[in-house]
Amino acid sequence: MTTEAILPAHDVADLGRAAEGLRRIEWAEREMPVLRLVRERFERDRPLDGIRVGACLHVTTETANLMRTLKAGGAQVVLAASNPLSTKDDVAAALVAEYGIATFARRGEDRDTYYDHLKSVADTHPQITMDDGCDLVSLLHSDRPDQVKEVLAGTEETTTGVLRLKAMAADGALGFPVVAVNEALTKHLFDNRYGTGQSTVDGIVRATNMLIAGRKVVIAGYGWVGKGIASRMAGHGAHVAVVEVDPVRALEALMDGFAVMTHADAARWGELFVTATGNLNVFRREHFEAMRDGAVMANSGHFDAELDLAALRDLAEGHVREVRDNVQEFDLGGKKLHLVAEGRLVNLGAAEGHPAAVMDMSFANQALSAEYVAKHHAELEPRVYVVPEAIDAEVARLKLAALGIQLEPMTPEQAAYVASWQHGT
Ligand SMILES: NC(=O)c1ccc[n+]([C@@H]2O[C@H](COP(=O)([O-])OP(=O)(O)OC[C@H]3O[C@@H](n4cnc5c(N)ncnc54)[C@H](O)[C@@H]3O)[C@@H](O)[C@H]2O)c1
Repeated sequence: MTTEAILPAHDVADLGRAAEGLRRIEWAEREMPVLRLVRERFERDRPLDGIRVGACLHVTTETANLMRTLKAGGAQVVLAASNPLSTKDDVAAALVAEYGIATFARRGEDRDTYYDHLKSVADTHPQITMDDGCDLVSLLHSDRPDQVKEVLAGTEETTTGVLRLKAMAADGALGFPVVAVNEALTKHLFDNRYGTGQSTVDGIVRATNMLIAGRKVVIAGYGWVGKGIASRMAGHGAHVAVVEVDPVRALEALMDGFAVMTHADAARWGELFVTATGNLNVFRREHFEAMRDGAVMANSGHFDAELDLAALRDLAEGHVREVRDNVQEFDLGGKKLHLVAEGRLVNLGAAEGHPAAVMDMSFANQALSAEYVAKHHAELEPRVYVVPEAIDAEVARLKLAALGIQLEPMTPEQAAYVASWQHGT
């Protein structure tokens, strides 16, 4: 443990929990072989030497391993939480006391503290930003325009953040290039789908202890996250219905074997509702009014805006109580509705977020994208970039190798055949 006198700047709940956090970070590391290989190379090559990296990410065991990797690459790293409820306080403590990484995050922090923590990151004048939801980039552009020119480039972890960045770029408001890590195939095909799928079920079950088998589950949004949740719920024996606004995705859900219905019909039919749209007020007053007594709601989209919580509170007229850890009961008079993890990301608020094995790929993409922008920022324009294909392929190759799985190589004859146009019927 680092001695108190030389601890980095921090605001965490309890440094006394550092040893517990260290144990859990090391446990996660066992499932992150790709990131470990990147870290070992970073230690040798120091591709981020002296670069100030400001990160706004969920403070979890997996993020701790990413922070270690960036530090091993020579970066000066500062971390704040990207959600008030996702911080693991033991991990935050270990980052400060065991790894000497400046960390600003307390689970359950209020909105002002959340933004004070982001400001602490901004105060270090980051040259690379690493966001999950675009809050750090937004803060720099709205409150600190003079600092924008100091930023070489950024990276963004999630769908919602990428949408916000694309909107900024379309408005001509984005001041530096950002690599959309979410767009890497080795990120969203696995993290959004299998990671969020499993951990969303985990969060709901931990919070409520409900039996999924036989339950009528409504999933709003059939994107990567929604598909993952729907397939995992079905795997537990749920009856799954999907609500979509996109015709192709609705058709996909139907042919994957799920019922497709409107929010109004789903509100009457469902027993458990999970949102994963990245949109606003997906379930709102009229839906709450139609839901059955005992219905449970949770959200796995990035912001706590998918359920209209103001309307829910209004309907309950103050009759809200915590009935279990992470479960609030809203008494609407004739019936009671339940909300898990305050409508925030349920997999992080009520469970541990994605399993490390999947974050291995997402965060290897993050580390390699940071290395890429450190090397190539001068050639990039202020817009949103996809992760270079070479990085995506390298992450997949390393993951397969770590799992001991070999790819079948094409024979020279096959390689020539697929590259030619002369062959026909
Ligand atoms: N919980 C987590 O750990 C985690 C992980 C990854 C992504 N996310 C977040 O989850 C959200 C979804 O991500 P994704 O990658 O699946 O995005 P996506 O764009 O692939 O899917 C979103 C889907 O929601 C649909 N949709 C939009 N508005 C809707 C509405 N009003 N009703 C029904 N459907 C609607 C869209 O048509 C789309 O198919 C984003 O906010 C993303 O940032 C969370």
